[in-house]
Amino acid sequence: MAKLFIFDTTLRDGEQSPGCSMNLQEKLEVARQLERMKVDVIEAGFAIASPGDFQSVKAIAETVKDCTVASLSRALTQDIDRSWEALKKAVSPRIHTFIATSDIHMQYKLKMTKDEVLERARSMVAYAKKLCSDVEFSAEDASRSNPEFLYRIFETVIDAGATVINIPDTVGYTTPEEFFALIKGVRENVPNSDKAIISVHCHNDLGMAVANTLAAARAGATQLECTINGIGERAGNAALEEVIMAIKTRPQMYNLDYRLDTTQIHRSSRLVSSITGVSVQPNKAVVGANAFAHESGIHQHGVLAEKSTYEIMTPESIGLSQNLMVLGKHSGRHAFEDRLNTLGYHLTKEELDAAFDKFKVLADKKKVVQDADIEVLLEQKAVEIPETYKLDRFVINTGNTITATASVRLIKQNGETKVIEEVSTGDGPIDAAFKAIEKIAGISFTLEDYSLRSVTEGQDAQGEAYVKIRRDTQLYTGKGVSTDVFEASVLSYMNAINKMIYEEKLEEQV
Ligand code: KIV
Ligand code: ZN
Repeated sequence: MAKLFIFDTTLRDGEQSPGCSMNLQEKLEVARQLERMKVDVIEAGFAIASPGDFQSVKAIAETVKDCTVASLSRALTQDIDRSWEALKKAVSPRIHTFIATSDIHMQYKLKMTKDEVLERARSMVAYAKKLCSDVEFSAEDASRSNPEFLYRIFETVIDAGATVINIPDTVGYTTPEEFFALIKGVRENVPNSDKAIISVHCHNDLGMAVANTLAAARAGATQLECTINGIGERAGNAALEEVIMAIKTRPQMYNLDYRLDTTQIHRSSRLVSSITGVSVQPNKAVVGANAFAHESGIHQHGVLAEKSTYEIMTPESIGLSQNLMVLGKHSGRHAFEDRLNTLGYHLTKEELDAAFDKFKVLADKKKVVQDADIEVLLEQKAVEIPETYKLDRFVINTGNTITATASVRLIKQNGETKVIEEVSTGDGPIDAAFKAIEKIAGISFTLEDYSLRSVTEGQDAQGEAYVKIRRDTQLYTGKGVSTDVFEASVLSYMNAINKMIYEEKLEEQV
């Protein structure tokens, strides 16, 4: 059995996708979860892209101990230096450098000849190797590159010290048969290919990213690059959960030995969706809400008689519990802690105290507290940021024959504590409340997106509200959870504003 390496690029390629930007705390929280799930490599970002990216790569490199941490760099000395600066304290750092190799990219984007690209790739891998023993080289747009040129460039960079050669399908153009042949071609025609790990990185423009990745694994690629929930540039990247569950469910097909803990998949998917505010489609393979739901009578009957009739993998294998024990306001601390442990959360005493207090407040409002409620409760804790504005109270007056009016009172904590109240009318109750908050904050920004979804079913279900606000080029996501949807909305708006204030302060300090 060959050893498989799962390279997660949620924090780099995933974060590049529209509306998926994350702040430092959020990236750290995702990185901790990826470490818990035991991915082999975390691509933490593109260090030279911005001071914020640099800080996140550095913080992740200094926090994560059990995974290799990589930073992307163009094939330029300044990019590589910046990556190394961010990575150098990591237990296992990797510099990832890339240059495009297709005729179309070399001619129109790089305006470089083949020989110039070859020499740049060689010299930059050699340069990176002097700083870091682990160097990955990617031939951008490899699937549309001349295979003979790819063989030459890979042979050259391996000689220069590359430990991993990555073959991206940058524009999601290839097909499983074609990609299989390309990977096989690289293995057979690059004389020193056995000295490096062969990696693939597929985009999903034609919906074939996972199929192409798996075809490459069959052809001998042993590092697979992917993202949680398949987020990424344009149509996204190969979804980690789909790739690994295919390998787990069909071991005879792939014959690969991996260390990833699949029972952390559900939690990872939830976390990324909750942080980015990008929901997972219900029928999405593996992590969609319906992935394990059997609706039709025939299927239900079959599953009741024998699960394997219609279930090729178990919900437990991705960390979804089949919990029959109900938690409510009479549940004690022990039962709560027990439930957390089963869900894979292991909290310190202080964290447990805080979570239990929140659970009690929720259990007072909701008859039954479900696992999804607990997950949301813990996610709130995970990415807490300083609350410049805290909600004190709000009153909303609305109806179909009156203009909606909201009065909101916030507590401003910025050195001194101040109570500020504003009233506003609006185009509906949420708009009125948001406008009152804007008056209090006195900062100009635009609301880009607002959505509301329920955490669980039932009339007393908690609502999760998401907003995205933009100030100049920066997008901030806010989230609020409550059994009252108006309160959830108000909290989400304030969360986004608090993040904006916090991050702008951080930027000033850099
Ligand atoms: O899609 C791509 O080609 C990339 C590379 C930089 C690896 O993301
Ligand atoms: Zn990519």
